[in-house]
Amino acid sequence: MSDDSIQLAVIGGTGIYGLAELIDMSTELPLTDFGDPSGPVRVGRLREGGARIAFMARHGEAHSVPPHRINYRANLAALKSLGVQRVLALNTVGGITEDYGPGVLGCPHDLIDYTWGRISTICEEPGSEVIHVDFGEPYCRSLRQAVLQASMRAGISVIDGGVYGATQGPRLETRAEIARMRRDGCDLVGMTGMPEAGIARELGLNYACLAIVANWAAGAGPDPDEVITLDDVLANVAAATADVAKILHEL
Ligand code: HPA
Repeated sequence: MSDDSIQLAVIGGTGIYGLAELIDMSTELPLTDFGDPSGPVRVGRLREGGARIAFMARHGEAHSVPPHRINYRANLAALKSLGVQRVLALNTVGGITEDYGPGVLGCPHDLIDYTWGRISTICEEPGSEVIHVDFGEPYCRSLRQAVLQASMRAGISVIDGGVYGATQGPRLETRAEIARMRRDGCDLVGMTGMPEAGIARELGLNYACLAIVANWAAGAGPDPDEVITLDDVLANVAAATADVAKILHEL
C-alpha cells in the first residue's frame, strides 16, 4: 500500500458534517454508476505524516438529504472509487437498552432492518447480475476490533456490541415502536444504518459502525414522557465529537 492510499473512510451522520482536524485537504467529486453522492469527499490527514483518510457527510454538508433519500449506493461507490477499503460509519442514534444512555459510544455487532422502499442493492437495475452476499455478521469483525482497540488506546469507552435497529424516519419512533424494537432485541435505533451496511457488503468493503447515542429513544429513558428535540440530539453529538476524533486519530 502506498503512502498516498486512503486507509480509512469515515461517513459522518447527523451533527458531524466534517472533520475539523483534516490537514493537506483535497476535495474529490467522484462520478459513480449510481448517480450523485450526498456531497464531496474530503481527503486529508489527521496529523503531519499520518495516514490519508476520506470523509463524507451522509446527509450532505448542509444536512439537506433525509435518511430515505440518501443515495447510499453512490456514497459507497464514490468512496470505493478512491481506493478505499475500510469504511467507518458514524451514526447518531437513540438508545433503547439501559447501557446506551445519551453520550455513550457503541460499536454494534448486529442489526435489524425496519426500513422500506429504499434502493438496497447494487443489483437493482434490470440486467444486472444478482448477488446474494452473506450478511449473517453485518459488520466487519476486524474493523470493529480495530475501532475497539483504538478507543482503548485513546482512553475512550466504547461499548463492544449491541444490535442496531434501522428505522425509516425522518420522523422519530412512537413509544410502541421502540417497545417492539426492544422486544426484538435492539439496543440502538437510527435511520441510516441500512441499506448502507448491506450495500457496503455487496461492494466488498470492510464496514463497521461507531454509534453516538444522542438521546433516549421514545419512552426508553427514565422520563417516559420526555420529548426528543433536535437541539438535544445535536448538543449530545457535539459533546461526543472530541472523543470520536481521538478514536479516529488512533485508528
Ligand atoms: N430514533 C431514530 N434515529 C435517531 C434517534 C432516535 O431516537 N436519535 C438519533 N437518531
